[in-house]
Amino acid sequence: QIVGVTETIAATRILPVVVLEDAASAPALAAALTEGGLRAIEVTFRTAAAAEAIRLMAERPDLLVGAGTVLTPAQVDQAADAGARFVVSPGFSPAVVRHCQQRGLPVFPGAATATEIQMALDAGLETVKFFPAEQLGGVGMVKALAAPFRSVRFIPTGGVNTGNLGDYLALPAVLAVGGTWMVAPALLAEGRWDEVTRLTTAAVRASRPAG
Ligand code: 3PG
Repeated sequence: QIVGVTETIAATRILPVVVLEDAASAPALAAALTEGGLRAIEVTFRTAAAAEAIRLMAERPDLLVGAGTVLTPAQVDQAADAGARFVVSPGFSPAVVRHCQQRGLPVFPGAATATEIQMALDAGLETVKFFPAEQLGGVGMVKALAAPFRSVRFIPTGGVNTGNLGDYLALPAVLAVGGTWMVAPALLAEGRWDEVTRLTTAAVRASRPAG
């Protein structure tokens, strides 16, 4: 069962970032991801299907459903009304963050620089999406940014996969990693749910320290 938002993401450690074209596939996708061991999902507002997909997935008591690529306060409302329990955005928007806070919705804005991290801190936030992680310098960059910002927790996303997620998750400052690799658009379009579960299982296994 899902308790706290940050606690659930921290326990799952992997946040699949979903771009869904057809809301009708949402229940099958949710089943495939939970079968693979995940408990949280970010459904992006990059498609018109997002709100309906969130609504369908939020019916599951064992899955924490959030909204991603939220760029406007209006999308915050759509996400919240559909049942999203948290909001993620690629960058730092004061308007989006404020609106989430007014609605009591946990928000994880993107931060790519020390300045953006300070903007998040000024807004009372301590967890940011570090995006796009690999392109910005990957693990080394997270380490460098974590040094001065001791209270900040990062969700590196962008170029993360089963091969490199362990390096990120080994950093104490990393709450979880996000990415699309287990929910590639072709897999979703073709309804290859067994493959989604297989990739998810492999990712969950890679997220656990060896030994
Ligand atoms: C996101 O917005 O979180 C990214 O598109 C995810 O990046 P990836 O496709 O490299 O995992």
